[in-house]
Amino acid sequence: MNVYDSARMADVLARLGYTPVDEAAGADMVILNTCHIREKAAQKVYAELGRLRRLQEDKKKTGGRMILAVAGCVAQAEGEELLRRAPFVDLLFGPQTYHRLPRMVAMVGQTARAVVDTDFPAERKFDRLPETAAAAAAAFLTVQEGCDKFCTFCVVPYTRGVEESRPVDQIVAEAEQLLAQGAREITLLGQNVNAYHGDGWSLARLIRRLAKLPGLARLRYTTSHPSDMDDGLIAAHGEVEVLMPYLHLPVQTGSDRVLKAMNRQHTADDYRRLVERLRATRSDLALSSDFIVGFPGETAADFAATMALVDEIGFASAFSFKYSPRPGTPAASGLDPVREAEKAERLTVLQARLEAQRREFANTCVGRVLPVLLEKPGRHAGQLLGRSPYLQPVHIEAATARIGDEVSARIAAAGPNSLAGELAVAEADA
Ligand code: 5AD
Ligand code: SF4
Repeated sequence: MNVYDSARMADVLARLGYTPVDEAAGADMVILNTCHIREKAAQKVYAELGRLRRLQEDKKKTGGRMILAVAGCVAQAEGEELLRRAPFVDLLFGPQTYHRLPRMVAMVGQTARAVVDTDFPAERKFDRLPETAAAAAAAFLTVQEGCDKFCTFCVVPYTRGVEESRPVDQIVAEAEQLLAQGAREITLLGQNVNAYHGDGWSLARLIRRLAKLPGLARLRYTTSHPSDMDDGLIAAHGEVEVLMPYLHLPVQTGSDRVLKAMNRQHTADDYRRLVERLRATRSDLALSSDFIVGFPGETAADFAATMALVDEIGFASAFSFKYSPRPGTPAASGLDPVREAEKAERLTVLQARLEAQRREFANTCVGRVLPVLLEKPGRHAGQLLGRSPYLQPVHIEAATARIGDEVSARIAAAGPNSLAGELAVAEADA
């Protein structure tokens, strides 16, 4: 979602005459769009600010000015504390106020203090943002923000705010703009996307509406909560052709005890049954998940339950993390922490298993002909990078003019980070 937000900030700033550049050095403004989900992500901000401060000083020496801004959830959560640690920051704003950037930028330099806007304003940013000016072949579209689930480890309900769905018409209009600008794939975004309820519509109904848009080849949505996978959404996976057979469905842990302590509102068996139903609807559905190891109180038996669940389900890909205590969240109160060495050990074991599953899944793709959406130039000349239906990166020899095409590709090999494909015969002749 930060990628999406950054693109929308660029849309707002375009009106003030700003254009994106590749390098921070020499820029008139640098915005760090930050993530607060784990401590490591938040720490990176301070390391990066140290580097940017030097660039800011370099620019000053040449008589110029670099506006340094911190946006996103670290700004939202740390506010004044961040300014105390980094007083050279000019501008600080959270995820819900970037539509006010023109006003904020105009105020920079008018007082000695930084300009701060970490409101949750009554006027919604989506009603104020300009039309999006550019689209990639695979584009993002935020349909829902914030979360009411309050998992006990998670900062999202505090930084992004409560669950809020965008109106249907606004989403359809934005999707049409993206398609007019060359997008072929749209990923619907939300912290809890399948809780979408704009204008009383379910996510399934929204998906069916968007699937009708001419030019849309692929539709995805992320991230979903298992408890919000309703019958309609499961059915959509069997019926909506453009909906990709790949679903990110975080389970976090396979232990019922830990699920309960996390306030996840479902059991490991609920998750198993849900996956069974999804696979009954769409047999080639591949799954991905997020996992947390070392949640306070997690025992060896709890961790074994996670490993058992991983073995049973089989994930095409996954993200896994050591539990990171976040300020203000219920789980961070310090009771029964798992030792750091134990966390690290469990993470290593889990990641090895998940990596083996990823590789195994990639190997089943070798020899198959898959549709690949060509998205951008690859590493070598004459090569493009695309994505399979399962979001795997695929390198293919093809002309640059084919960026934006969904082609049929024979998968020749599976490497550690991507697949190697070649245009299927009919495509190469085309
Ligand atoms: N510690 C570790 N991982 C976390 N996540 C969210 N909060 C924490 C935390 N405090 C992970 C969850 C979530 C993903 C986006 O980040 O697995 O699904
Ligand atoms: Fe955080 Fe997701 Fe839980 Fe919401 S559902 S509190 S975003 S982990």
